[in-house]
Amino acid sequence: MGKATAVANPNIAFVKYWGKADDALNLPANPSLSMSLAALTTVTTVEFRPGQTSDTVAIDGRTASGQALERVVAHLDRVRVLAGTSFGRERAMVASRNDFPAATGLAASSSAFAALTLAATQAAGLSLDQAGLSRLARLGSGSACRSVPAGFALWEVEEAHQVAPPQHWDLRDAIAIVTDQAKAVGSHDGHALALTSPLHRARLAAVPGWLAAVRDGIARRDLAAMGPAIEADALAMHGVMMTSQPSLLYWLPATVAVLQVVRAWRAGGLEVYFTVDAGPNVHCLCQATVAGEVEKRLKAVPGVQEVVVSGPGDGVRLVNWHLF
Ligand code: DP6
Repeated sequence: MGKATAVANPNIAFVKYWGKADDALNLPANPSLSMSLAALTTVTTVEFRPGQTSDTVAIDGRTASGQALERVVAHLDRVRVLAGTSFGRERAMVASRNDFPAATGLAASSSAFAALTLAATQAAGLSLDQAGLSRLARLGSGSACRSVPAGFALWEVEEAHQVAPPQHWDLRDAIAIVTDQAKAVGSHDGHALALTSPLHRARLAAVPGWLAAVRDGIARRDLAAMGPAIEADALAMHGVMMTSQPSLLYWLPATVAVLQVVRAWRAGGLEVYFTVDAGPNVHCLCQATVAGEVEKRLKAVPGVQEVVVSGPGDGVRLVNWHLF
């Protein structure tokens, strides 16, 4: 009590969350389905300190300010309200470390708010069940609710639930990193623009079919059954982004180069499908048996700086050591 540390993995959505039904409650315009990524982690320590006058937040060794700080403080306020009067005035020291570059489409906010939710509630003496943690994480960042359960997670309205544990399928995500620069418009600000795109409604109408295909593919461990739906939804989401006002164009030349080679490799018999989040990096999904080949080929694509390969990861969890 007083201090706690949690570890979370980010997740990659196979059916994306883009656009909100309720901005204040962070309810999504459509259901989304994701896989947690074992190879990437965020560790967060929270300590409530009597006598401290304001919340202090360090992310990857740098003191947070501006919107990043405000979002963490707003989340700590939610925890303080839940914890009641004894924690109402307590301010916290927060430190968080990612083992991957933040804000490059590797979904740092998903693991960040999942880890912050568990560490802060535990430090405040609360013990929420998984659904409660997922609902609270959602208020910090929508995609974070999917980093609470382990493995494959479906977020329909208020919280995410596991659809299959990580042991169900050793699916691999080979992430082609084409830049480690932060993007100009974060997904948090991008969601509001979805409504300005004439393609938004068309995408929402297609999502139930894609979601059914992805659920079926996961249940049967059948990549070919879900890959086309995963690619179609990623392209539809980027279509919405590109046709928003103002237009969001997250792709770099190397992004398009990877999309092209993935399709060429597939035509040549290598089973691999792509998806892209709100950033330029490309997530390439394949079976574990061909992950080494996909990694080798991706590294040879001009513009690809690094490849990180990940299987399905755990849910958010407490650890018994601290960052400070
Ligand atoms: C493109 O969860 O970052 O990664 O709820 O405003 O924090 P906020 O948005 P965020 O949006 C994620 C968008 C996405 C798709 C996805 O992960 O489903």
